[in-house]
Amino acid sequence: MSKIKIAIFGGSGYGGSELLRILLAHPNAEIVFVTANEHAGKTVTSVHKNLRGFTDLAFQKAPEDLSDIGDVDVAFFALPHGQALHLIPRLPGKVKAIDLSGDFRIDDAEIFKKYYALEHAGDIQSKFVYGLTETNREAIKTAKYIANPGCFATASLLAVAPMVKSGLLTGQIVVDAKTGSSGSGIKPAANTHHPQRMTSFYAYKPFSHQHVPEIQQHLAQVGNFDQKLVFMTHSLPVARGIFASCYFETSVELTNEDLANLYQHFYEDSFFVRMVEGSPDINWVKTTNFCDISVHSSGRNVVVFSAIDNLVKGAAGQAVQNMNLMFGLDETTGLKLVGTNP
Ligand SMILES: NC(=O)c1ccc[n+]([C@@H]2O[C@H](COP(=O)([O-])OP(=O)(O)OC[C@H]3O[C@@H](n4cnc5c(N)ncnc54)[C@H](OP(=O)(O)O)[C@@H]3O)[C@@H](O)[C@H]2O)c1
Repeated sequence: MSKIKIAIFGGSGYGGSELLRILLAHPNAEIVFVTANEHAGKTVTSVHKNLRGFTDLAFQKAPEDLSDIGDVDVAFFALPHGQALHLIPRLPGKVKAIDLSGDFRIDDAEIFKKYYALEHAGDIQSKFVYGLTETNREAIKTAKYIANPGCFATASLLAVAPMVKSGLLTGQIVVDAKTGSSGSGIKPAANTHHPQRMTSFYAYKPFSHQHVPEIQQHLAQVGNFDQKLVFMTHSLPVARGIFASCYFETSVELTNEDLANLYQHFYEDSFFVRMVEGSPDINWVKTTNFCDISVHSSGRNVVVFSAIDNLVKGAAGQAVQNMNLMFGLDETTGLKLVGTNP
């Protein structure tokens, strides 16, 4: 197979850095160009020093005329919200696109406006497929445009989807999720800068996080979802990782074994979801594309824990997993990244 020719828009940030790390080692990928804004003109390895020895590419400004971006099969967008919205509609018709931002995740224009203060890009919105690989594989295989899920949404949906699909839920679903500081991107801000967070722990955006409608929308596609969702986000004093604790009440009593069977069956074809004993741990998923999940029950109460690396399964890794499917490759190609210990 000839190599997939790739453009990366926004390669100088954290998501772009991970796209480069994964794609430079991917056997079927060839990066044609990579853009940056303030870092345009610098070599990739002067910004991402972990990539020394792997590339001679330099960051360039995004081309003004996107209708002629050369021989590119797929473009990845790792830009702040509100940018891909204007860029993807201007790509040549033959170019596929995978957007890591929230620009195309929400189908309802009013809800999108409420959470992102942006207008939909127009008709192109209906051509986007939601890129949670494990629950949307068949649609992703034939998609031209992918709205890659948010990091919190990925950790939450992978934990919650099997319960919704089971049809056994009563009462509300509570998702209590925590993220590391790289979730806020590479530019420090007063309230998100790591020195402020590394010895601290706090909650933010109660009932208003932009991943709420995304999770609700996809759960309604996965199963018969009519529960109330309470979703809460917190800042963890770590650089990478998301941990979600998800609480449910079921209509019948379930044993741990019942739950384990339910999840194992749901994820039987999913290499990147690992069922674990006890608690998942951010340590064992960081730098990998894995989502570790554990399940626990007490009568009709169920708690499910999940852990991912926000920049890999929560962003660049899942984006490449989706690219693999869009180009007829095994979804694990270039993604069997073994974690580190410790
Ligand atoms: N961080 C995560 O855990 C995570 C997870 C899932 C999804 N996402 C989403 O992925 C996207 C990228 O996130 P990130 O964490 O990688 O952000 P980031 O570290 O802040 O990087 C942003 C990138 O966009 C470029 N950029 C910024 N302003 C620009 C402008 N005005 N015009 C053109 N390029 C501009 C930056 O280039 P310069 O640095 O050269 O200016 C950089 O390459 C966001 O939409 C985010 O919500 C992030």
